[in-house]
Amino acid sequence: MALNSLAEVAQAIVAKGKGILAADESTGTIKKRFDSIETESTEDSRRNYRELLFTTPGAEEFISGVILFDETARQKGSDGRLLVEALSSKGIIPGIKVDKGAKALAGAPGEKVTEGLDGLRERLQEYRSMGCRFAKWRAVITIGDGIPSHYCIQANAHALARYAALCVEQDLVPIVEPEVLMDGPHSIETCYEATALSLHRTFSALLDQRVPLEKILLKPNMVLSGKECPVQAGVQEVAEKTVKCFRSVVPAAVPGVVFLSGGQSDVEATAHLNAMNQMHGHPWHLSFSYGRALQAPALQAWQGKAENGSQTQQAFYKRARFNGLATRGEYSAEMEQAVA
Ligand code: 13P
Repeated sequence: MALNSLAEVAQAIVAKGKGILAADESTGTIKKRFDSIETESTEDSRRNYRELLFTTPGAEEFISGVILFDETARQKGSDGRLLVEALSSKGIIPGIKVDKGAKALAGAPGEKVTEGLDGLRERLQEYRSMGCRFAKWRAVITIGDGIPSHYCIQANAHALARYAALCVEQDLVPIVEPEVLMDGPHSIETCYEATALSLHRTFSALLDQRVPLEKILLKPNMVLSGKECPVQAGVQEVAEKTVKCFRSVVPAAVPGVVFLSGGQSDVEATAHLNAMNQMHGHPWHLSFSYGRALQAPALQAWQGKAENGSQTQQAFYKRARFNGLATRGEYSAEMEQAVA
């Protein structure tokens, strides 16, 4: 697989039928996931779990890239090979989370800004030398009483663009992730407005900072009803509003949009992506970069036990395959029952 330019790497990640596994949970977040299956989070248990996912036979048919956390990018698998090499040898492109997390934004109660720009150039240089070909930076936008503020959206857009410009300079494809959270009782219309505004500001900052849009991937939320909204939009409405929103603000030069799952169930996340891909004529590839929606059934199957390895891999393969089908608009809800 000769991927010589950033545009080629970006295109390979969103090749039809494929998408990204987000396995870059920070140490705190993976602990929460492991707590849910009463499994201790240690360097070894994290490595064992992630190695199972990465070495799932056939996953490479549907998984083009994996986002890693720093610890994982330095770990070796049970065969003594670096996990980064194990992925590359299967034709899966390794990527790396490079932000340092969302922290309270000064003067903006309830809002956050993502940190991690200091020393970023040097960290990117090291990750590139370790074999990573793309990076990720997540900004968090919260919907609530009187928020998001323009200040928060602007501060995050500026940081995302500074990160993306440095990635391009250091030969890594930047995944630009402005996530509007689905927490709260807000309507789908409110999510639409916040998403459109945040994307608009993000692209404006990317252009100001001379980031070539052919070399990036966008990782956004879908346009959804708030989790606690009494009226929940159905699959078709989510697909139509998401596509309408993106058509109004995402330039056609962007090769791909790889959605996060953000707390949707695994089945919902697949159904939404599928419905969008059943609509034709999009200027960008629409694919996935799911964490929870790809891993939830695998985590349940694993239960922290080595003897559950093959069930873990089967559960992961199933979600990877269904999401791969959803990138083609070829998934249907009946398949959930049909496959054991
Ligand atoms: P979820 O799909 O679980 O939202 O995770 C994706 C991700 O990488 C968030 O930054």
